[in-house]
Amino acid sequence: MNKINSKDLYTNRLELRIPKMEEQHRLWEILIVENINQYYFPTPDRIFAKNNLSKDKIEDLKKARKIFMEQLSDWKRQEPFYKKKIKLIQTQDDSQKYTWSIFLKGTNTVIGQITCQPKDNELENIRDIGWYIDANYQRKGYATEAAIKVLDFMFNEVEITDIKTSAAEINYGSWKIMEKLGFEFIGKKKSTYYKDDEILVCKEYHGNKELFLNRNNS
Ligand SMILES: CC(C)(COP(=O)(O)OP(=O)(O)OC[C@H]1O[C@@H](n2cnc3c(N)ncnc32)[C@H](O)[C@@H]1OP(=O)(O)O)[C@@H](O)C(=O)NCCC(=O)NCCS
Repeated sequence: MNKINSKDLYTNRLELRIPKMEEQHRLWEILIVENINQYYFPTPDRIFAKNNLSKDKIEDLKKARKIFMEQLSDWKRQEPFYKKKIKLIQTQDDSQKYTWSIFLKGTNTVIGQITCQPKDNELENIRDIGWYIDANYQRKGYATEAAIKVLDFMFNEVEITDIKTSAAEINYGSWKIMEKLGFEFIGKKKSTYYKDDEILVCKEYHGNKELFLNRNNS
C-alpha cells in the first residue's frame, strides 16, 4: 500500500472534496434523519456495555438505539467529534484521511459522504467502504458514481488490496451498489439493526481490484 495523501476527486457530475468543517453541520443534518442513519451507523458496543444491554434482545436493541440517537441528534455534543475528525483528516491520519464530502459539481451543495477506512483488527490494506446520500438526491446514481471514482483511486493509487464491507439485507440500495462494483457476496451475519420486532441480518461482501475491473462483465 502507498501511504499517499488524499486528494479531491472528480466525476462527471460530482466533486469528492477533502472534508472541511464548513460543510460538516449540513452533513450532520443529512445523517440524523432516521431513514439515512438506521442501517448506516451500527449502535456502538460502548452503549450496550455502559447500559448493561444485550444485543440479542430486541427490547435492548431499541433502548440502545434510542440512547445513541439522543446523542447523535445533539449538534453541540457532536461538534467536537466532527472537529476532531477534520483535524485528523487535515493531518492525513490514516484512520480518517480517505473520507470525502460529496458535492454536486460546480456548486457548494453537499449531498453526502463516502469513506474508505481501515477495518478494526485488519491489515491497513484491507478497507471498508461506506456511503450516505441526502434523501433528496437518492436514486440518481450518485453513490455508485462516487464509489467507482473512490475505488479507482484506492486500488490504483493507494494500492489497497481488498474491500470487506456489509449492508443490512433490507438495505437493498446499498448492497446493490456493492454488486454493481463487482464485489462478491460472502455470507450473512447478525446485526444490531432491527425492523419492527425483528433483528436483521447483514450481507457481507468482498472486493478487490480484479473484481472491480471486471465489474461490467459480471
Ligand atoms: C444506499 C445509498 C447510499 C444509495 O445511494 P444512491 O445515490 O441512491 O444510489 P444509486 O442511485 O447509485 O443506486 C444504486 C443502485 O441501487 C438501487 N437503489 C438505490 N436505492 C434504492 C432503494 N431505496 N430501493 C431499491 N433500489 C435502490 C438503484 O436503483 C441502483 O440500481 P440500478 O442502477 O440497477 O437502478 C442511499 O440510499 C443512502 O444514503 N442510504 C442511507 C445510508 C446507508 O444506508 N448507507 C449504507 C450503509 S451500508
